[in-house]
Amino acid sequence: MLSYRHGFHAGNHADVLKHLVLSEALRYLVAKPAPLRYIDTHAGPGGCALGGGFSARTGEFLGGIGRLWAAADLPEPLRRYRELVGGFNAGAALERYPGSPLVASALLRAEDRGFLFELHPADATELDAALGSDRRFRVSRADGLAALRGLVPPPGRRALVLVDPPYERDEEYDAVVEAVDDARRRFPGGCYAVWYPVLAKDAARFLPERILSLGDGTRTRIELRVAPEPADGWGMFGSGLAVLNPPWGLKAVLEECLPYLAGALGNDGAGRASFSWDGD
Ligand SMILES: C[S@@+](CC[C@H](N)C(=O)[O-])C[C@H]1O[C@@H](n2cnc3c(N)ncnc32)[C@H](O)[C@@H]1O
Repeated sequence: MLSYRHGFHAGNHADVLKHLVLSEALRYLVAKPAPLRYIDTHAGPGGCALGGGFSARTGEFLGGIGRLWAAADLPEPLRRYRELVGGFNAGAALERYPGSPLVASALLRAEDRGFLFELHPADATELDAALGSDRRFRVSRADGLAALRGLVPPPGRRALVLVDPPYERDEEYDAVVEAVDDARRRFPGGCYAVWYPVLAKDAARFLPERILSLGDGTRTRIELRVAPEPADGWGMFGSGLAVLNPPWGLKAVLEECLPYLAGALGNDGAGRASFSWDGD
C-alpha cells in the first residue's frame, strides 16, 4: 500500500538538508569530465506547487525553504541551493519546489544519465510529465531498491545513488540496508546517500550506523534535529543522511552550512546539527 505523498512535505527542513547535500555532491561529481550516473531509487513526483494542493495543507515548507528564501546572510553553498530552487520559480515569490529529480536535472550534463524510480501511480505520472521527455533521464514506475542491482556498476564507474524511502513500513529499514549492501558489493566505489528520519524508534536510530558499517572508504553521517526528542516518543524531530564515499568537498560545505541550518530551521532555539567524517 502506498499512502505516502511527498507533496505534503516538499521543501520542509528534511528536504532542505537532503537537497543541499545532493546538489553539492553532484556539483563536485560533475566537475570531473567523466560521465556520471545518477540513480534515484525513490524519486517522488519531481516538483511540487507550494501555493495549493498537498503542501499548502501542511505548510511544512514554511519551516524549511521558507525560512531561507529571503535570508540575507546565507553561507555560499546554501545561497547556491536557494538559487537552484529559484530557477524553478518564475518571480521573486516562492511558488514551486523541486524534488530530487529536478535538483539533479539542474546539475547533470548532457553526457550524464539519470535513472528515476517511483511506484505511486499519480507521482510517477507527474514525474514522467516533468522529465520523461528529457533525454538524459529514464523514468520507471518500478521498485527502485530492486532495480538498483541492475544499474551498478555503471559503464564509466561513476555514480551517485540517492535512497530516499518513505519508511512507511518497518521492513523498509532492512530492505534499504540489504539493497545498499548488495549494490556496494557490486560497485564499492559508488557514492551512496541514504536519507533517514530521526525518530525515537530503534529501527530508525540504528539505520545510519548500519549503512556506514557497509563501507570501508570515506563515510559521513549528517544530521539536523529541529526539535527536542518528543516526550511521548512520537513523530519525526529531525533527519539525516548516511553517505558512503561522499565527494571530499562536501566536508567543507557541511562545516560551513550545518551551524546555520541548526539556527535557521530549529524551532525555538532547539536546532542541533552534527556530522561525522571517517575514513580519510
Ligand atoms: C520521500 S519520497 C521521495 C522524495 C524525493 N526523493 C525528493 O527528494 O524529492 C519517497 C517516494 O518513494 C515512493 N516509493 C515507495 N516505495 C518505493 C519503491 N520501492 N520504489 C520506488 N518508489 C517507491 C513513494 O511513492 C514516494 O513518492
